[in-house]
Amino acid sequence: MADKLIIFDTTLRDGEQSPGASMTKDEKIRIAKQLERMKVDVIEAGFAAASPGDFESIKAIASIIKDSTICSLSRANDRDIARAAEALQAAERKRIHTFIATSPLHMEKKLRMTPDQVLEQAIQAVRYARNFTNDVEFSPEDGSRSDMDFLCRVLEAVIKEGATTINFADTVGYAVPELYGNMLKSLRERIPNSDKAVWSVHCHNDLGMAVANSLAGVMIGGARQIECTINGLGERAGNTALEEIVMAVRTRKDYFDLQLGIDISQIVPASKLVSQITGFAVQPNKAVVGANAFAHASGIHQDGILKARDTYEIMRAEDVGWSANKLVLGKLSGRNAFKQRLEELGIALESEVEVNAAFARFKELADRKSEIFDEDILALVSDEEHAQNNDAFHYVSLSQRSETGELPFAKVVFTSDGKEVTCEGNGNGPVDAIVNAIDSKVQSGAELLLFSVNAITTGTQSQGEVTMRLSKAGRIVNGVGADPDIVVASAKAYLSALNKLQSKTEKLNPQI
Ligand code: KIV
Ligand code: ZN
Repeated sequence: MADKLIIFDTTLRDGEQSPGASMTKDEKIRIAKQLERMKVDVIEAGFAAASPGDFESIKAIASIIKDSTICSLSRANDRDIARAAEALQAAERKRIHTFIATSPLHMEKKLRMTPDQVLEQAIQAVRYARNFTNDVEFSPEDGSRSDMDFLCRVLEAVIKEGATTINFADTVGYAVPELYGNMLKSLRERIPNSDKAVWSVHCHNDLGMAVANSLAGVMIGGARQIECTINGLGERAGNTALEEIVMAVRTRKDYFDLQLGIDISQIVPASKLVSQITGFAVQPNKAVVGANAFAHASGIHQDGILKARDTYEIMRAEDVGWSANKLVLGKLSGRNAFKQRLEELGIALESEVEVNAAFARFKELADRKSEIFDEDILALVSDEEHAQNNDAFHYVSLSQRSETGELPFAKVVFTSDGKEVTCEGNGNGPVDAIVNAIDSKVQSGAELLLFSVNAITTGTQSQGEVTMRLSKAGRIVNGVGADPDIVVASAKAYLSALNKLQSKTEKLNPQI
């Protein structure tokens, strides 16, 4: 019987640490439900001590999700661990994940602690965490740059205290596959009680090797848990991509010979959901979930595929959840059909008032776009959630003029704390004009880091989904807006980013 490979998803924790990828509680719940539908083994729902918002999100996810283990990160101190335990109270299966840095560089420069102090703190943390659950994970942060003798001392000690998973972290993406796999192998061989824990890999993609390193950790090092995120979301170059790991292990079962519990048909829906919520577009040539991942353009390939699919296809698009843009709803669809589709997509709107508001938006969209796809519904709900009632700014309407030889002009109407504001501006294009118009009133002082437009579905009737990334005083936020008119989508995205900049929610980064 092949060993089971545990899939530990950290989209909601490490993924969210990516600048601009912060999510609301409702958005996190939607992603958690999709992860459960995909049969992910462990969901790291956040870092409870980071902020009241993180705590509430973990608490909500812990009470809703039944099939996956719910985990909270905590630094190696009593306060963080108690907070994690409190947030996880309602979970049917709970895990506390505690960590402390073990590399000479981090211990000396960041923690300003001696190795003996770090060892003692790691032991205390695991001992304390075991008061709340039998499922305790310990990570030596910056493990891949740590001294092997010291790692052996720390890891042996924490296993003795009851850590049930040891997660070998390549925090800065410094590892190379063979070396990383061999380090893990050597740790497992040298630590006398290593068989009492499941060994896990956690890799970052700074050198583009996170997936390769994780798989080497499994094949050479004997790891049986991989930590990963949807679309490889994460700080800097991101984390190990869940979809790539799962499809590599499954497609090359002849080599890996491991069991997976994942429902792969939920991979593409999960990818789209995370992309839509965070505004982080998936590159077209991204393995498995990129729009071109299964597109065969060259004549020779197309000919081969027609004769026998496996000439050029090692996986089937439909198996991972790609569907040929199925028409789902139209102008004549009723409220019940709409509500049922929301449920099928895992969107549980809390009240009938919310369903009615979303249905009104759906009808409005159906008047402007004859065919409504799942992607449109997801965008519509995301848009609704981005436009939270307690936000300062809400889009109302706009008009704009652009004509060859003329300076583009825009007039935007929006509400600011409930009061209607009308503004006008010019720019070198219609989007520049609406941003200048809004800024003439808001004077945000923010720097625009990114402006991107994506067609949600195919054809010129598609809604455009715009992401605007703003930076101000060290904070980076993403605003997302969707509409068949990309200038309107841009105005919504800009206002959504301004709302996020205004919100006071300060959040602690666990690794600082
Ligand atoms: O990259 C890292 O070291 C982490 C740990 C907290 C596991 O995310
Ligand atoms: Zn990490």
